[in-house]
Amino acid sequence: MDYIKKLVKKYEDEVIEIRRDLHKHPEVGFDLDRTSKKVADKLKELGFEVKTNIGKTGVVGLIRGDDSGATIALRADMDALPMNESTDLDFASVEEGKMHACGHDGHTAILLGVAMVLAEIKDELKGNVKLIFQPAEEGPGGAEPMIEDGVMKNPEVDAIFGLHIWLEIDAGKVGVKTGPLFASIDEVDIKIKGDSAHGASPHQGVDAIAAAAEVINSLQSIVSRKINPIDSAVVTIGKIEGGYVRNVIADKVNLEGTVRALNSEVRKQLEEEIYKKVKNISSASDADYEIEYRHLYPPLLNDEEMTDLVKNNAIEVMNSENVIDVEEPTMGGEDFAYFLKKVPGTFFLLGGRNEEKGITASHHNTHFTFDEDIIVDGVEIMIRSVLDFLERNE
Ligand code: NI
Repeated sequence: MDYIKKLVKKYEDEVIEIRRDLHKHPEVGFDLDRTSKKVADKLKELGFEVKTNIGKTGVVGLIRGDDSGATIALRADMDALPMNESTDLDFASVEEGKMHACGHDGHTAILLGVAMVLAEIKDELKGNVKLIFQPAEEGPGGAEPMIEDGVMKNPEVDAIFGLHIWLEIDAGKVGVKTGPLFASIDEVDIKIKGDSAHGASPHQGVDAIAAAAEVINSLQSIVSRKINPIDSAVVTIGKIEGGYVRNVIADKVNLEGTVRALNSEVRKQLEEEIYKKVKNISSASDADYEIEYRHLYPPLLNDEEMTDLVKNNAIEVMNSENVIDVEEPTMGGEDFAYFLKKVPGTFFLLGGRNEEKGITASHHNTHFTFDEDIIVDGVEIMIRSVLDFLERNE
């Protein structure tokens, strides 16, 4: 399959150029008019069947191989972040307050590189390949709206692969993992309602601050006392707001938190425990409460067989010493998880850090970038995994 490597190499400059263009003109959330047009135009030029406005600004490209074969999907996210860039790259963002600080410009470019190679080897494909370009991964989430708009149907998708450029892994290496890789993310807003009074006469009011303090303390005990110590979970109250002046008993306090878990059972248990603690402590303090609980991304769970498949192909590309079994999941979230709830697949990490080149800034940092030499590796791993999958499911 050495011709694959050659083909990938042939498009390297063009793919890097696309990455730089996207980097220079970042767009955020669902507002991806320029980016999705670029993607759709390129896919059309390459002869893909293209659908636009799937999940608002999502784009889907389909290339049909053998009719009787399976359908594999690959996904890239296209969105940047609402922040200023402070790199000194030639192609740094020219859009005020917008920056590709998570590498999604690289993901989009890599998937277009995959499209270029697929267009050349179209006749060899033993099934269909669907390329999914997704908006709003950084929030509020574009995967779910794309699924609702039917991205997994016509033809029905059998499996899906995705990747994230990863600055905790060195360039030239790839990380794979079966099972949970990213956590579920839920948001909780808690209002504790008391009754105001003179600060010198606390007994005449209901102190929302004292009640909120007890609530926060007891929320901390959920992870340590209620969750199985073998499981991972996070309950963080990151914002607290309330009160007027030192001599007035506060009548309301607002708390905002993030809640994370690596499996659905723990996720559900955390929610139940939070409701229980807030209810019981408010009641014991004679306070009222209100809870708004929002379910964002589910935990991302990689399928074992699909992970092995991608791992084997990554070894072909990078050699075995450069393909790492990721031991610990991250408690960050990733909405690729929604696709994995529909079909088996795997999401892997493409190392992008390079100390020698001074590329070390973390994701969502104003200095973030990644080593562009990894782009061809990403394309090649995807192509080989696609061919392997379609061959096995012929
Ligand atoms: Ni990201």
